Amino acid sequence: MNQPSDKQHLILTGDRPTGPLHLGHFVGSLRNRVMYQDKYQQFIMIADAQALTDNMDNPAKIHDNVMEVALDYLAVGIDPSKSTILIQSQIPELTELTFYYMNLVTIARLERNPTIKQEIILRNFERDIPAGFFTYPVSQAADITAFKASLVPVGEDQIPMIEQTNEIVRRFNRLAKKDILVECEALVPEIGRLPGIDGKAKMSKSLGNAINLGSSEAEIKAAVKNVYTDPLHLRVDDPGHLEGNVAFIYLDAFDTDKEAVAAMKEHYVRGGLGDSKVKARLETVLQEMLRPIRERRQEYEKDRGHVLQILKQGTEKAREVAAKTNAEVMAALGLKHF
Ligand code: TRP
Repeated sequence: MNQPSDKQHLILTGDRPTGPLHLGHFVGSLRNRVMYQDKYQQFIMIADAQALTDNMDNPAKIHDNVMEVALDYLAVGIDPSKSTILIQSQIPELTELTFYYMNLVTIARLERNPTIKQEIILRNFERDIPAGFFTYPVSQAADITAFKASLVPVGEDQIPMIEQTNEIVRRFNRLAKKDILVECEALVPEIGRLPGIDGKAKMSKSLGNAINLGSSEAEIKAAVKNVYTDPLHLRVDDPGHLEGNVAFIYLDAFDTDKEAVAAMKEHYVRGGLGDSKVKARLETVLQEMLRPIRERRQEYEKDRGHVLQILKQGTEKAREVAAKTNAEVMAALGLKHF
């Protein structure tokens, strides 16, 4: 991972608020954001407008999850005095920029975007693709460029969005004969993807294999019990396998005592270490890690008005930045009359 370290860099990152955040988000982005906020100027977007592009049948779900995601952010230690948390839909300039950028992108180019292609298959849209969904890469380019972000932490699957954004930036700047917009770079985390408790490649709410950040002690206990290990490891004495063994993948991701984990792996492979011992350690590690997050979440939940205030202030601050960029873009396009 490249890490230029100075406050010159503005980071834009965000999530679609489609459900509460889970350990997969924690590994893939949240714990990095807690780090980034001390190194960079960080804007974190709750992308509710983007979430609507494939949830128009259930806007209430998106509305409600804006608060859930905000609670998760605050619970993991994203500090509103260091990071700016904003709600995408409340910044109309982002929609305006999207509308202008649409003319810098062709339908054919959007059709070639590998992420969009994948997502269309995943959602079984076939030919019935909402136009808003199809064009969300353009809206994402608006998000990134509105804040003149130079670094965008995203999972591997979002890299085509960054490429598409930079094409728009170059095309626009050439048109404007001035470097108004800023090219950006993806920041891809080392451990990008956490498997689900069932061993499937990706932890996700829709697959029902997630451990949410706000899970209760009992939920964590039950989830650990169901964690996929090694189907060939029938008796304690049998040699165990580590490939695809979710218990060990999670220990690698969350246990800070790397030596103890290495010793356990060695013992497991040799034979003589039962799954129940491995899971007992995993449970301890997860309970200790998630307890303070859950407690902080519960504190914030008691005062949702305060959380809304944080979102409002962050959004207002972000809007000023986006409005400035939008004015520059409009002027360059001859859309300034008074
Ligand atoms: N597409 C991102 C996701 O699905 C969310 C997002 C919207 C985003 N706008 C962004 C991420 C701008 C980074 C930068 O999670």
